[in-house]
Amino acid sequence: MNRLATRFTGLDFVNPFVLASAPPTESKRKILRAFEAGWGGVVTKTIGLHPVENVAGPKTIYQRTSETKPYVSRMKRPDTVSHSSWNWELISDQPLEQWLPDLEEIKTTYPDRMLIASIMAGAGSEEEMNNWAKLAKACVNAGCDALELNMSCPHMDRKDMGANIANDEEIIRSILKAVTAAVSVPIWVKLTPSTSSLVEAAGVAYAAGASSISLCNTFPSLPLLDPETLKFEVEVDGLVTSGGLGGLAILHQALQRVSDVSRAYPDKSISGIGGIRGFREAFNFIAHGAGNLQVCTAAMEEKGSGGIGVNLIQELTGDLNDYLERKGLSSIEEIRGIARDRIVEHAQVRRKSEAYNGGYAQSA
Ligand SMILES: Cc1cc2nc3c(=O)[nH]c(=O)nc-3n(C[C@H](O)[C@H](O)[C@H](O)COP(=O)(O)O)c2cc1C
Repeated sequence: MNRLATRFTGLDFVNPFVLASAPPTESKRKILRAFEAGWGGVVTKTIGLHPVENVAGPKTIYQRTSETKPYVSRMKRPDTVSHSSWNWELISDQPLEQWLPDLEEIKTTYPDRMLIASIMAGAGSEEEMNNWAKLAKACVNAGCDALELNMSCPHMDRKDMGANIANDEEIIRSILKAVTAAVSVPIWVKLTPSTSSLVEAAGVAYAAGASSISLCNTFPSLPLLDPETLKFEVEVDGLVTSGGLGGLAILHQALQRVSDVSRAYPDKSISGIGGIRGFREAFNFIAHGAGNLQVCTAAMEEKGSGGIGVNLIQELTGDLNDYLERKGLSSIEEIRGIARDRIVEHAQVRRKSEAYNGGYAQSA
């Protein structure tokens, strides 16, 4: 009996752990190694139609902290632990034409692993809608089991792309219309955590045909400035721009986003992402309603494996399996969403005395 087997958005996963769209899934070579290592699926690095040129410096830094000197920095110091990743990497620089034969080979080599293509185009014109449809059709024809629509990249100058569009319900609807008309595989929509209308955006996406929402992409953020050198921890010619924070530092915030969407739409699917580096984090996402788990920073930090988390996937599957076995559970479905009912409004939490009425309309 495979307790780790998971059916998610109609797809059968040998285990619920998926490498998120990022450097670990940027090439055929890495994806094949990831499947060999045991990952249940991958979401490819986001594929687009527009040429990409990254900044002339490091694209990602790994920030660490320590008990003795508890500041956050990429600087090498003894006895540090991981805090976060920060990146300003753009989408894949490999053109679609090069991706297509690679996707085909990956799917043929590992037919039992789920291959999800992350795609991104612009918005606001028929041409851009055709671009979404073109990317979708091409990836599905190459054998992809599902698509993840990137509506959440935190560092796009273009106002019609990435996180910039995630507040626009009309745009979300129009992209889903174009993609669902083009292909019939499950469509996952990756939204940005950086909006106050996330629950509404997710609702619009589900209603327009999304099978699942993927949460979260990285949180828009800035790298730190060193007080001595006055340099940012990552910069080019002294300049920096908004990038994305990932890893352990975003875990709690990502859980809250997943919980919000999952409580609003308990019958819908959600893929949990943000700060997963072991069983406990994965468990928390499942408890809040996620039926699928994506990992990026923790895999990238495992340098010995070339940044694809060879040991990590063994640990994740081993620890989840042990837990399910120990608790007599047959799959993660039995614990999915168990935390939902215990997330309540502030006023519903017991007080030390009856004195508190603040903001609670019923008792005021
Ligand atoms: C270097 C880097 C590149 C990324 N590129 C993409 C991308 O192309 N498309 C995308 O949807 N997310 C991208 N992400 C976001 C990750 O897929 C993931 O949502 C985020 O890192 C949070 O997960 P984590 O805490 O496990 O890192 C990238 C993240 C990093 C660190």
